[in-house]
Amino acid sequence: MKIAISGKGGVGKTTLTALLAQVYADRGREVLAVDADPSPCLAGALGFPDELRSKLRPIAEMDDLIEERTGAKPGTIGGFFTLNPRVDDIPDRFSVTHRGVRLLEMGAVDIGGSGCICPESALLKTLFTHLLFRKDDVLLLDMYAGVEHLGRATVDFVDAMLVVVEPTRRSLGTAAQIKKLANDIGLTRLYLVANKVRDDGEARFVETETPGLPVLGFLPADLKVQEADRLGIPVYDHVPALRQAALEIVEKLDEILVAR
Ligand SMILES: Nc1ncnc2c1ncn2[C@@H]1O[C@H](COP(=O)(O)OP(=O)(O)OP(=O)(O)O)[C@@H](O)[C@H]1O
Ligand SMILES: [Mg+2]
Repeated sequence: MKIAISGKGGVGKTTLTALLAQVYADRGREVLAVDADPSPCLAGALGFPDELRSKLRPIAEMDDLIEERTGAKPGTIGGFFTLNPRVDDIPDRFSVTHRGVRLLEMGAVDIGGSGCICPESALLKTLFTHLLFRKDDVLLLDMYAGVEHLGRATVDFVDAMLVVVEPTRRSLGTAAQIKKLANDIGLTRLYLVANKVRDDGEARFVETETPGLPVLGFLPADLKVQEADRLGIPVYDHVPALRQAALEIVEKLDEILVAR
C-alpha cells in the first residue's frame, strides 16, 4: 500500500505521516516512511533517538553517492551522466528503523520535468520511481508542498493521496490546486484530512467547503501537539486524541483500499 501525504506548508503533513506510520507499525505492518522535505523533520516526529538520527542523511546531500551512481558530481549541468543510476540498494542501506518504522530521508526532490537536468535530480527521480515500484508493505511519503513534482509512476502506484488541510479557506484553496494538478496527471484517489480542528463548526466548514474531495478524517487542534514537540515525544504517544483520530483514518483507508 502506498500513501502520499501532501498539503500547504505547516498544515500538519509530517504530524499525520508520523501518526499513520506508527499506527501501521503497531499493527505489525512493515512500514517504510519517506521524508521528502528539504529540511527533514519526520525523524523527530517519530521520536527517533539521537544515535539513530545521526546515522541519517538526506540522499540529496550525499555527494559521493550521487557521483558514484551517476558518474558526475552534483551541480554539474550538461556533460554526461547516467539517467538511470542504480538505486535498488539505497532504501535499505541508508534508512534506519525505530519502533517498526523504517525511515528514509530523501531531501529536496524535484521529480517533475521542471527541475534541472543534473546528476542529483537523476538519482532522486530514479529512486522515487523505484520506491513506487517496490513491493513494500506500507509506504508513506511525506511530500513537501504540492504535487507539481509528481510523475506518471505516482498515478499508477499511489493508492491514496491524503491532502491535509486546516479549517481555513486558504488551505482549502491549496487543496483545490493540488486536486487540479493531480487530476491533470490522472491521479484521482485524493482524500482530505482536516487538521487543527477546534470544534464542530470548523469540521462542518471543511465538509462544506471541500473542493469536491471526500473528508477521510479530522484531527483535533491540541496544544499537547506542540508540547510533544518541545518534549521530544511522538504525538502518537503524547496526544491520545490524535492517535485515536489516526487509527480511525487507517480503518477508513483499509475499507477504501479493500473495496478498490
Ligand atoms: N492537531 C494539531 N494541534 C496543534 N498543533 C498542531 C497540530 N498538528 C500540527 N501542529 C503543529 O503545527 C506545526 C506544523 O506541523 P507539521 O510540521 O506536521 O506540518 P507540515 O505540513 O509537515 O509542515 P511543513 O510544510 O513545514 O513540512 C507544528 O508546529 C505542529 O506542532
Ligand atoms: Mg513537514
